[in-house]
Amino acid sequence: MTTLAFQHEEIAPRPLKPALLELDGISRAAVEAHYKLYQGYVSKRNEILAKLAEVDLAAANQVYSDVRALKVEYSFAVGGIKNHEIYFEHLGGHGGDPDGPIGTLVRRDFGSIDEWRADLKATGMAGRGWAWTAYDWDESRLFNYAGDSQNTYPIWNATPLVALDVYEHAYFLDYQTDRASYIEAFFNNLDWSVVNGWISAYGIRP
Ligand SMILES: [Fe+2]
Repeated sequence: MTTLAFQHEEIAPRPLKPALLELDGISRAAVEAHYKLYQGYVSKRNEILAKLAEVDLAAANQVYSDVRALKVEYSFAVGGIKNHEIYFEHLGGHGGDPDGPIGTLVRRDFGSIDEWRADLKATGMAGRGWAWTAYDWDESRLFNYAGDSQNTYPIWNATPLVALDVYEHAYFLDYQTDRASYIEAFFNNLDWSVVNGWISAYGIRP
């Protein structure tokens, strides 16, 4: 049997930090349900790769549509993993204005902290699934990107530093349709020391 050539190993979900169960304005029940969804993306990713490894390229007709469907599903599952890992990792703090290197970058690229916050909030109100503050390595600056889904619309060579989940599943339990209040709660729980750790690890220079 001729198959696609790729290595694959199963991955496991990252554990949920205890601080995530005590957020301000985002309930434990909402976080626990949300974490289950993330675990589902990890299982899905493992399952898709196992299926992809079994695609017989010598088989007739249907095979390329199978490859397409599985690879698209793969990007959705992996997006669901990466987005939520950023989200869970940088929550659990006390919010406030970003300080240190992230504060410097935000002020430089948006004019002020308040303008950055308003820009990200508007992006989050506009997107269907995600809003990210990411650093574009080609332009050496931050920009707030909108995503409708787990795998739309990140761009190449940009590194997300803030990932705001605006899917209904992130807030419906606590806020029903009031997405704006949930976004405020999200800001209030950010841990800027985590974001500054990423800036240092990635070698982004303000
Ligand atoms: Fe989510």
